[in-house]
Amino acid sequence: MPSVLSPDQRAAYDADGYVIVRGFFDAEEAALLKRAMEQDPAIRGHFYNRGDNDGGNTKMALWNHPGDSVYGMAARCLRMVDTMEDLLGGEVYHYHSKLTAKEPFEGGAWEWHQDYGYWYHNGCLFPLMASAMIALDCSTRENGCLQVLKGSHLLGRVEHRLLDGEQMGADLQRVEEAQKHLETVYAEMDPGDVLLFHCNTLHRSDQNRSEFRRWTMICCYNAARNDPYLDHHHPRYTPLQKVADDAIKAAGLAFAGAEDESAFMVEAVAPSEIRAKRDSG
Ligand code: SIN
Ligand code: MN
Repeated sequence: MPSVLSPDQRAAYDADGYVIVRGFFDAEEAALLKRAMEQDPAIRGHFYNRGDNDGGNTKMALWNHPGDSVYGMAARCLRMVDTMEDLLGGEVYHYHSKLTAKEPFEGGAWEWHQDYGYWYHNGCLFPLMASAMIALDCSTRENGCLQVLKGSHLLGRVEHRLLDGEQMGADLQRVEEAQKHLETVYAEMDPGDVLLFHCNTLHRSDQNRSEFRRWTMICCYNAARNDPYLDHHHPRYTPLQKVADDAIKAAGLAFAGAEDESAFMVEAVAPSEIRAKRDSG
């Protein structure tokens, strides 16, 4: 299956370091993903908090292997993986996925960073990595949608340092200089829309001071030919089993048919694989 991107979208990704694909997942798929994030005990039971520098908090869950759950199928479906393979120029594998859940009034901010600012330290030699941020709720300026610095992937990797609090951020002087040349874009999305972005694209988000929840799920991929040379808290090259696009709905049906918690597809996220301590871009 070819990438979902039109030639113009593909060119925009190369020029801007990101592209938003509207309706990447249809309404039913988006609802299934949202429900799985809310109800699957493998997620719900493993929330942890990521504080910002200003009293805000993002609720998170993170998993390394996609598994057979609804959200595993979203990460493994042809639509997603073939598009990632187009962007990264060859076979990719699932590096990890995470939920970043900003609750009304308390959702935390993220400082300017590049994901490769972190992943570089994991023995990933080349920035042949990218992420897909899936909107589960409406993601707006008001509730702390992602902001991207358009074209910033062309800066290469910027130095990152530990900021106050728990977050590592990009060298602010360099970010401020870059902002004089590059536009900050608010990636507003509806449920099911997906933002595809390069691992050197600078991004941040504001606290959620609104009454509206902002939950997103982010699937991160590495090129198979960029197998990290270090063992670390995310997988080294692990072949990804692609699934048909309709597998999301099929997994959703199985999820809906589960009568009690023990029947949920908890094996999708082994608790020991969810890392509460380390930051992951
Ligand atoms: C966000 O959810 O706003 C940012 C998440 C990230 O950079 O990983
Ligand atoms: Mn990030």
